[in-house]
Amino acid sequence: MKTIELHLHLEGAAPPKFIRSIAAEKHADLSGVFDARGNYAYGDFAGFLRCYEAATSVLTTPRDYARLLAEVLERCAEEGVIYAELFVSPEFCGGGDLSAWRDYLAAMEEVAGQAREAGIDSRGIVTPIRHFGPERARKSAICAAETAGGWITGLGMGGAEQVGHATDFAWSFDCAKEAGLGLTCHAGEWGGPDSIRAALDLGCTRIGHGVRAIEDPALVRDLDDRGITLEVCPGSNIALGFYPDWPSHPIARLADAGVRVTVSTDDPPFFHTTMRHEYDRLATSFGWGDTEFRQINLWAAEAAFCDTATRERLK
Ligand code: ADE
Ligand code: ZN
Repeated sequence: MKTIELHLHLEGAAPPKFIRSIAAEKHADLSGVFDARGNYAYGDFAGFLRCYEAATSVLTTPRDYARLLAEVLERCAEEGVIYAELFVSPEFCGGGDLSAWRDYLAAMEEVAGQAREAGIDSRGIVTPIRHFGPERARKSAICAAETAGGWITGLGMGGAEQVGHATDFAWSFDCAKEAGLGLTCHAGEWGGPDSIRAALDLGCTRIGHGVRAIEDPALVRDLDDRGITLEVCPGSNIALGFYPDWPSHPIARLADAGVRVTVSTDDPPFFHTTMRHEYDRLATSFGWGDTEFRQINLWAAEAAFCDTATRERLK
């Protein structure tokens, strides 16, 4: 089955082997990042973010990011993904400096162009990292706005949702919106319904995760009425302990309530998942089949941060 993935963190998709080989080239010390089996090692959500940032610290050049994007898009294609949107942060690509970011982006755009020729299309979503604070987010938003129009088509804040308030980042979202970028924000993963409302107030048409909307029936109705799309990553939510198992995950209840849900892997090697695995678990947990999968991919195509011609091709 051909699928669309709207929520995939570029660094979070780095296979452990890839990070280990780059670390070896640079003689970088990554003690604590991997467990005895060579998988990413973390306990809770805070530990996950620490592990993620430590692994990412070995990616220090545009070439590193180009190699990473090539590897990740190849794996997406193997999973049947025909279009992927990747979160990527100028924070990690040159520390928020615009000129450095342009170099990283040029390297990634070249790879994305080659991958498009090979059959997998992609776009980049610039990601301010919430726990790095509003000032650093502004720098990321400026990088996004200054490079909008090519591969970069959106702004989407990630990081620790419980830190600060979404309104602290309003300037960054306004800046991106003015530049014509699509807006999304991680909310309703760790935070509750109010966090989702705050993300909507920033102007987001999509919400990263958003699954805790299920705790507030009025919000669920609002998401349905407004046609907001949720970038749901069930395997991620379960691996991070937000839900104990697949049957208790709210994705099917949200879909039944009319909410536009889509399915993505978030940070696949961290959560031992793939797109095919997500679809298999949805099939076995909720009896989803072709009808449901066609519907979520149609919703994903309609919500994709790309031009109309591409969107129509994806439908
Ligand atoms: N960055 C990478 N994965 C994330 C997640 N699941 N939530 C918040 N920030 C992230
Ligand atoms: Zn995410």
